Amino acid sequence: MSYLANALASIIVLPIPQSGVPLTQAQVEVILLPDNITASASGNCTDRNNPTCTSYEGLLSGTVDGIVSFKQAAGATSLVITGGTEVGHANGTFSHGNGFKLDVRHASVIDDFIHSNFTQIADRADGFPQWQTEIGDLYCDEGTHWDITYF
Ligand SMILES: *[C@@H]1O[C@H](CO)[C@@H](O)[C@H](O)[C@H]1NC(C)=O
Ligand SMILES: *[C@@H]1O[C@H](CO)[C@@H](O)[C@H](O)[C@H]1NC(C)=O
Ligand SMILES: *[C@@H]1O[C@H](CO)[C@@H](O)[C@H](O)[C@H]1NC(C)=O
Ligand SMILES: *[C@@H]1O[C@H](CO)[C@@H](O)[C@H](O)[C@H]1NC(C)=O
Repeated sequence: MSYLANALASIIVLPIPQSGVPLTQAQVEVILLPDNITASASGNCTDRNNPTCTSYEGLLSGTVDGIVSFKQAAGATSLVITGGTEVGHANGTFSHGNGFKLDVRHASVIDDFIHSNFTQIADRADGFPQWQTEIGDLYCDEGTHWDITYF
């Protein structure tokens, strides 16, 4: 759950899904691009059905809130998203395809922030190290990028 949604949920009890609602590519771009959060894809495309694209189609609003809050907290001037809801990622409840995850390119400002401000927990089952926030979001270092899950 995003910081904002979490704060609101503790005040107003509403039957909203934990990570918000699925958004369209255009709805997400309108939020992320002005904040200098840009996408990169080997195929230079946004088609959800093509694994070489980076798609925001169906990304949950809570995930969008989460990445915006994270960038601000880390004091980063930009973020590069390298994976979204496109096919080709592992399936599962809290998966890329279901809108809970984003892949983000390494940058020293965010790497340092994650290492210093989040809690390193046991390695993921596949051996990659991971850090957890106070509200349970997960930042897993898959070597070439961060695989981030906003619950
Ligand atoms: C990606 O596509 C955009 C829009 O079509 C184009 O402006 C840009 O040059 C392309 N980038 C690469 C690396 O192909
Ligand atoms: C946006 O990000 C780029 C790097 O991706 C950076 O060069 C630029 O200064 C950033 N813009 C602002 C307004 O921070
Ligand atoms: C995810 O599930 C879909 C549909 O069942 C399947 O086609 C795809 O191969 C699966 N992806 C992975 C990475 O296992
Ligand atoms: C958060 O991380 C930054 C490094 O990015 C560090 O300077 C700062 O002290 C950390 N804050 C806390 C509360 O640990």
